[in-house]
Amino acid sequence: MPNGLRKGLTSYGDDAFSLFLRKAFIKAMGYSDDALDRPIVGITNTYSDYNPCHGNVPDLIESARRGVLLAGGMPMVFPTISIHESFAHPTSMFLRNLMAMDTEEMIRAQPMDAVVVIGGCDKTLPAQVMAAASADIPAVVVPTGPMVVGHHRGEVLGACTDCRRLWSQYRAGQIDEAEIDRISGRLAPSVGTCMVMGTASTMACVLEAMGLALPLSATAPAVHADRRRIAEASGKRAAEIALAAVPSPSQLITAASVRNAMIVLQAIGGSTNGIIHLTAIAGRAGIPLDLDAFDRLGREVPVLIDLKPSGAHYMEHLHHVGGLPALLRELAPLLDLGAPTVAGGTLADIIAGAEQVPNQDVIRTLAAPLKPQGAMAILRGNLAPHGAVIKQSAASPELLQHTGRAVVFHSIEDMAARIDSPGLDVAPDDILVLRNAGPKGAPGMPEAGYLPIPVKLARQGVKDMVRISDARMSGTAFGTIVLHIAPESAVGGPLAIVQTGDRIQLDVPARRLELLIDEVELTRRLGVWQKQPPHRTPATRGYARLFEDQVLQADQGCDFDFLLREGPAGKR
Ligand code: FES
Repeated sequence: MPNGLRKGLTSYGDDAFSLFLRKAFIKAMGYSDDALDRPIVGITNTYSDYNPCHGNVPDLIESARRGVLLAGGMPMVFPTISIHESFAHPTSMFLRNLMAMDTEEMIRAQPMDAVVVIGGCDKTLPAQVMAAASADIPAVVVPTGPMVVGHHRGEVLGACTDCRRLWSQYRAGQIDEAEIDRISGRLAPSVGTCMVMGTASTMACVLEAMGLALPLSATAPAVHADRRRIAEASGKRAAEIALAAVPSPSQLITAASVRNAMIVLQAIGGSTNGIIHLTAIAGRAGIPLDLDAFDRLGREVPVLIDLKPSGAHYMEHLHHVGGLPALLRELAPLLDLGAPTVAGGTLADIIAGAEQVPNQDVIRTLAAPLKPQGAMAILRGNLAPHGAVIKQSAASPELLQHTGRAVVFHSIEDMAARIDSPGLDVAPDDILVLRNAGPKGAPGMPEAGYLPIPVKLARQGVKDMVRISDARMSGTAFGTIVLHIAPESAVGGPLAIVQTGDRIQLDVPARRLELLIDEVELTRRLGVWQKQPPHRTPATRGYARLFEDQVLQADQGCDFDFLLREGPAGKR
């Protein structure tokens, strides 16, 4: 198998000429033959002026590059798409698969024996790992790392759990314009990813637990020296595995590591987006993710990490008490400790090196957890035949069993137009229903599932209501919110036929989500919908058309159908 510069030669019909030409061009950059004979480690560059979560990427590239050189490799940095949550229209999820395709094809097209993927903002690490799994060359994941915390009026603030909480206070008239402006300069006080257990932190933790990143990669703050040392060590390790050609992502993404990841996802109070991304990553390795198994694990695995939005602390505090290795030590009786890691040993070796920090309260024990059950529950019922998810660890306990009257919004636009209308017929016990916000419906399944409390109820002091949709929600949000209803309403899932005034029953302990109408009426309404689905303007060209044609439902990870691996034989 050719390696280094000889890998994947451009087709001119004469391999020797292809190599000659490649060398001739790259020498324009001043490389020596000695440098060009080394194993090559590609390093992704996702720096973008639009992406403050990746603001430290140039520093991390420099550190990773140093690590590659220290180990005798040849670093080569290449650009890929970069996606930031609040700079992506219509929503970052719409672009995740595009980033995965871009990254995969650049890893395949350019000569490299290993790759360091540096990412962080919510969709970027999932996209990069989906890409690495499909390209299947040795890869080391380097998260950009969490921001440090902010401060306001003596209170510690975190993006973006406190963004939502304080914005709700502003909507309710408890904070004035001047103060909310001041707060906007304090919620994100450094580069790096959101420092609560949002999607970025969740995915960094999950990927470290799967052995795809070096120990402590998930938690070291973006601006700490530890972060740069981890990047250097990751570059060094990438050069070593480039020479050895193992382990490849498909050797690390296994049924055992996916199960370990599901356990960690439950124990960290992880983001609901995490289950979609993990499903997509596992799908790239040919491993179907069983949502019911995930739910069963949630009944056995308690939440151990006391971080917002489920708890009180922030990512830097988790780092200071030993990070993921210390959590994995607590979870050891539940994990497959023989799972290999990119560091070279097994999960057991990572745990053996975990720091012991006395008298800490960020990582709880199995005997005295933060919450008795895991972060998430999978719901089924006539409203969600293929499942729905609720983050029960961030929900109001008194609403986990609730029956109420549906108040239906037909689309995100309809919701935005009417939710604060003084004439909206809504009461605190009602259930807010949003449809046409799923993978195809919106499109891209935006984080619109955190429907705001109607302003007239917010002003009465209502802080939470049951809200259900086929949308996603930010991992930083809290509330009694049912998400990812599958099939989505835009393809005729039962959510499409709910009417204002219907009664809906949510029973999280029983894992049920039911529309309380009889079977005959349900079938009649679905039949009417099938005969005349509401008109949607189809995408006619480009990526939007590819997305609409190919995106899978939430329970299948929202990947494109043709990118899944069907088992080892399905490798390209
Ligand atoms: Fe990038 Fe939160 S906005 S991680």
